Amino acid sequence: MKLKWLGHSAFELIRNDGLNILVDPFIQGNPSCPISINELNPDIICITHAHGDHFGDAIEIARNTNALVISNYEISQYLQKSGIRSLGINYGSEISTDHMSIRMLDARHTSSYDFEGDIKYAGNPGSFLFDFKNDIKIFHAGDTGLFSDLKFVVGEIYKPDIALLPIGNLFTMDPKEASIAAKWINPKIVIPMHYNTFPSIKQDGNYFMQLVKNENPNCKTLILKPLETYETK
Ligand code: NI
Ligand code: MN
Repeated sequence: MKLKWLGHSAFELIRNDGLNILVDPFIQGNPSCPISINELNPDIICITHAHGDHFGDAIEIARNTNALVISNYEISQYLQKSGIRSLGINYGSEISTDHMSIRMLDARHTSSYDFEGDIKYAGNPGSFLFDFKNDIKIFHAGDTGLFSDLKFVVGEIYKPDIALLPIGNLFTMDPKEASIAAKWINPKIVIPMHYNTFPSIKQDGNYFMQLVKNENPNCKTLILKPLETYETK
């Protein structure tokens, strides 16, 4: 399968048979994403939480493609009222499709919609574990600070091969916290995200790589450029 970074926390996960999962589709307002939404054709869109830099263009893309949107219950209710095909889940839920499953896990953050300055509650923020059976397991951490379930739940129970971790500081973990998360989760590969999109979350990917090397020499840091693809077997 292929994993393509679209900048910030947006990723395309593309299975060998073509099934396309788009995570946190922040495209049009994303200064680090060089493509337009018309170039995307997901079957499934997953949203970790409702902040604009994650919810992004979900509605427009889902309308264009009829993709199924998977998110927390509160976001899915809002999407259904907007005429979007959506499935609301919560922590502990696993949805199995053929040859894969998607599980929502915890994230330590907040989640709200901003309706032109009017902030509305939008359920709890989450993270996702994508289990591409007979291939790899990918953990997308969403926006989060460091918390112990990254070790005791994600690392010890779900054991992802690849972890996508925010390192931007200000709204999420900083590189030091994220390197500890890389030790606790202990994936084969860690990919930093949610940095260098805006000046306020500027970070040095190579500094993060060095910290990961110190904390967990078995874990390889893969620094992608927007639109760069990592391909498993
Ligand atoms: Ni957020
Ligand atoms: Mn964010």
